Amino acid sequence: MHTHDGGEAHDPSTIVVFGADGDLTKRKLIPALYHLMVGHHLPEQFAIVGMAITPMSTEDFRAKLSKDITEHLAGPMDRAVWESFIQRVYYVTGDFLDPLAYRRLQEFLEEVSNRHQTGGNYLFYLATASQFFSEIVRQLGMRGLTAQREGTWRRVIIEKPFGSDLASARALNYELSRVLQENQIYRIDHYLGKETVQNILVFRFSNGIFEPVWNRRYIDHVQVTVAESLGVEHRGRYYDAAGALRDMVANHLLQLVALIAMEPPNSFDANAVRDEKVKVTRGILPFHPVEVLRAVVAGQYAEGKVAGKPVPAYRAEPYVAPDSDTETFVAMKLLIDSWRWADVPFYLRTGKRLPRRVTEIAIQFKRAPFMLFRQTATEQLAPNLLIIRIQPDEGISLRFDAKIPGPAVRVGKVDMEFQYAKYFGNEPSTGYETLLHDCLVGDATLFQRADNVEAGWGVVEPILEVWKGLPPKGVPLYQAGSWGPAEADDLLAREGRHWRIPD
Ligand code: BG6
Repeated sequence: MHTHDGGEAHDPSTIVVFGADGDLTKRKLIPALYHLMVGHHLPEQFAIVGMAITPMSTEDFRAKLSKDITEHLAGPMDRAVWESFIQRVYYVTGDFLDPLAYRRLQEFLEEVSNRHQTGGNYLFYLATASQFFSEIVRQLGMRGLTAQREGTWRRVIIEKPFGSDLASARALNYELSRVLQENQIYRIDHYLGKETVQNILVFRFSNGIFEPVWNRRYIDHVQVTVAESLGVEHRGRYYDAAGALRDMVANHLLQLVALIAMEPPNSFDANAVRDEKVKVTRGILPFHPVEVLRAVVAGQYAEGKVAGKPVPAYRAEPYVAPDSDTETFVAMKLLIDSWRWADVPFYLRTGKRLPRRVTEIAIQFKRAPFMLFRQTATEQLAPNLLIIRIQPDEGISLRFDAKIPGPAVRVGKVDMEFQYAKYFGNEPSTGYETLLHDCLVGDATLFQRADNVEAGWGVVEPILEVWKGLPPKGVPLYQAGSWGPAEADDLLAREGRHWRIPD
């Protein structure tokens, strides 16, 4: 996260993408690198080498990317920039398990480095299925490709999922640590690349007026909603084994909680920020098995309608077991054991096939004492609410009461609104630009350290354990296009609260 001068990526470098024939490469990575080039954020000397098992020549690969990019760019394309971009792209066919493939890759990298004068700096991007992560790193290590010599760097970006529980995440961290130093490892959580997510830190710590009320004395509770209208799409094979708790909560939602709840770091240095995040994540009160049953709700979408269109049930989706019990929705209540947050509930929910795509954090403040307004129904006196809208329509709004004009004292809710697009315009972005850029300049602030990832898994581990023991067919269904199962509403209703319907 470049907080001062925009830290440009001047070091010559080669980006090596494993899984170059896949979805992520065409949808996110190539458009993001292109955007960086348009904005002059890439070094003068750079090259991209893709590797995957699909047999292709460099020419084929360039032709494929030139076709794919037209579908995945949000804005218009600058032909001249694209031409110069694609001339730096290469492809090597190779099986990730085959040592000979890495030998070919190494020879090829030397050739490309010479041609484009990219020096010995390599960024290896692991955009592959997770089962290959440790093997690719091991093979790179065997060929000496991860060794940083005087004046050169070697970095590795690891995609998600980073393990499937605490033990597997620990094992993967251990495997990586046998080859790489921690500061060479960049574990992605793409939510940290989102502008508004980064803005949480700026909002909290560069404004004097919010931090004094950012605690249990003033905040009643926090709601984090990550709603998707899409279903599982073509990812059933991965998702049916994972479920929403692993797919979304262990990483993205807990990242949002950490940014909202962390103590101020003493600098924006990567380790200072990550120290505070891990501290607060570890402070989340561990779930006792009985608590799991009370405070965590799972759900799975049944058929229904989203945006007026009929959609199938989760169990009817491709690659999903017809009797699957995998959750596509989770809601839960977290408590954080700290002086700042004791007794302030953090309610989290995420799900697929909800009415629409919206991610927001709602911070509800405690009510004012009402003695002046005894004649007014309390529901008309709304508590103050700060909404941080992550997507879409990024922005922040503050809700407060105002007097409705007229002779009688009547109170109504009004909103003070900041919209990103209005102030700063809309930059076409995939969300990966910042992350790729930061890795090229060696700034790991927005990436997960080993202990951050393990702390996240540590929070969900007791839930996974309890769920494993539950009888089959236990997961409540919710209609596609609704806000989840009734049990999620009960979770808040029991405590005299209710979920906000995002605006
Ligand atoms: C991914 C999950 O990490 O995040 C997906 O694996 C999910 O299941 C996606 O759809 C949501 O990301 P975004 O950026 O669309 O909110």
